[in-house]
Amino acid sequence: MTLAELEKMGGEAMASATGAADLAALDQVRVGYFGRNGLIPALVKQMKDVPAEDRPAFGKRLNAWRGDLEALLEARKAELATPVTRGPAFDGSLPGRWHGTGAAHPISQVIEAVASIFAKLGFSVADGPDIENTFNNFTALNTAPHHPSMDAADTFWLDNDRLLRTQTSPVQIRVMTSHQPPVRIITPGRCYRRDTTDATHSANFHQVEGLYVDTRPVSLADLKSTLAHFAREMMGPDVGVRFRPHFFPFTEPSVEVDFSCHVCSGQGCRVCKMSGWIEIAGAGMVDPRVYRFVGYDPESVYGYAFGMGVERIAMIKYGIKDIRSLYENDVRFLGQFA
Ligand code: DAH
Repeated sequence: MTLAELEKMGGEAMASATGAADLAALDQVRVGYFGRNGLIPALVKQMKDVPAEDRPAFGKRLNAWRGDLEALLEARKAELATPVTRGPAFDGSLPGRWHGTGAAHPISQVIEAVASIFAKLGFSVADGPDIENTFNNFTALNTAPHHPSMDAADTFWLDNDRLLRTQTSPVQIRVMTSHQPPVRIITPGRCYRRDTTDATHSANFHQVEGLYVDTRPVSLADLKSTLAHFAREMMGPDVGVRFRPHFFPFTEPSVEVDFSCHVCSGQGCRVCKMSGWIEIAGAGMVDPRVYRFVGYDPESVYGYAFGMGVERIAMIKYGIKDIRSLYENDVRFLGQFA
């Protein structure tokens, strides 16, 4: 027997201990090596035939792998004795857990509907930031410095020149200062005012602004027919639309636009405060002073603008009685609009 042969036997011993599939097989390995007729006692007996000078090396080698084998057998025994823990059986026939299908928020649904109605009329969607400067939100919209809307009691000012926009109208200014006519855009977005929240007011609400400016004549009749068409597309063919003279600094002439109350079909209810009508938008022909602020020649362009309240539309379209329910994210409420 050579040292290499002894080494090889050690390797085989370890391999068979590692490969034992269960406790019985492992015990057979143990008996095969450590039993009375096992390999190890046999090897010990053969020691006397090894030349005296090689004996210590053989003894050391045999002892080493015997110790390793013993330790491995112990470890494998503990391992095979531990029952394999499995998770609960999978039952493919159980129904899944229903989490409900998401849907767009009614505010988003209205904005998307407005955008798609105006897209068919050739209006594209423009965007502007919630944080505006005085020029875009007030000055270029021909709003005098003493105008009450500029007061700190009405507007959230961030510093001397920056504010949370009080309307989507400043996007008109952004579009006109960067594009030449014709421009035909709508611009939906958030607006901010220092309003006390109640059933019909919120300090944070949404508007959709519209602007059409062309070098060909555009008239108040175009504005009226466009908004009347929009009303029917949005609310259905039976909706009533009325235009009341009004004042806005950035339009002349100006109108306010009412839709007949969808909740009571114009009969008068709490939502329309018994009037049968709900104010939806402000509108008018763009004031020449606005054109001058944006660098257009007031003598050679024509245009109208409008700005409508998204919450107002959502409330009458869906019969929502309290604006606050639109912001509470209560799925029992939102689920109605899925
Ligand atoms: N910005 C106005 C508001 O918040 C609404 C408005 C009125 C927008 C007339 C317009 C407009 O574009 O022409 O009350």
